[in-house]
Amino acid sequence: MSNLLQMRLTAKRAAAQDVVELTLEPASGAALPAVEAGAHVELHLPGGLVRPYSLCNAPGETHRYVLGVLRETESRGGSAAVHELLQVGQALAVGAPKNNFALRPTPAHKLLLAGGIGITPILGMAHQLAAQGRSFALHYAGRTRARMAFLAALADAPLAAHTRLHVGDENSAMDMPAVLAAQPAGTELYVCGPAGFIDAALAAARQLGWAEAHLHRELFAAAPRQPDGDDQPFDIELEGSGELIHVPAGCTAAQALQAAGLPLLTSCEQGVCGTCLTRVVAGEPEHRDQYLTPEEQAANDQFLPCCSRARSPRLVITLAT
Ligand code: FES
Repeated sequence: MSNLLQMRLTAKRAAAQDVVELTLEPASGAALPAVEAGAHVELHLPGGLVRPYSLCNAPGETHRYVLGVLRETESRGGSAAVHELLQVGQALAVGAPKNNFALRPTPAHKLLLAGGIGITPILGMAHQLAAQGRSFALHYAGRTRARMAFLAALADAPLAAHTRLHVGDENSAMDMPAVLAAQPAGTELYVCGPAGFIDAALAAARQLGWAEAHLHRELFAAAPRQPDGDDQPFDIELEGSGELIHVPAGCTAAQALQAAGLPLLTSCEQGVCGTCLTRVVAGEPEHRDQYLTPEEQAANDQFLPCCSRARSPRLVITLAT
């Protein structure tokens, strides 16, 4: 908890239908850790919720963090708290930026694809690439123009020349295979949005033979969780102390560990953000997350206890202290 930044909400405005833009500034006036394109921060919200949100401000800024937050129709409390409870002037604790979706510093042309609120990190990437004079194209898909955030920034120089909007109810929905096929050879893909949008982009890229190393994505919503009827109970053993924690069906490993008073931080609770990543030293996890790559899952030396379980009767883990 000691690395939390003490900040103040200095602006809150509607960025689109059901999307608010938050501006947070340091309470002390001290410089913040510099923003990197693709990074996110965790907001510690009223009621004890901790939720990750991507930064969309220009990379390199150290005086503020700017976030776009969609009110989720199935909010588990996080986005509803942001929309309804946060007031300008309010103090907030914020985790230092983390980046699971960084731009690679290569000269390759970049294709940035955003679906819905996925525009948030993509906008930061566009700012960075434009500032560096890099070659890139940004395609942004939404159902209606009213639901698409940051259109004013995208319509201005220098981003306008790189940006194409695809609006479902204006007969300009995105033809994903055509967009990808129009890119130069060696293009790197960065895609953010709902799972179906990301899956379509990755499938189109693979169909065209793009290298896996060129495919980068960040999910904003997890796939539906497997029903509790599939859950098997298992035990977790803490390496070193040998303490045993039972995880019954219908209870996540993270809930069981936290109920036992163990220091496990969670945020998205959907296997998307990586906050709860935990090292596994023995046993076989049953991976249900969308954070680890297939190769990382196959190594079975780490798992996300907020959603993943175990195939073996026991997992032996180490927890960061
Ligand atoms: Fe986000 Fe577990 S809390 S992956």
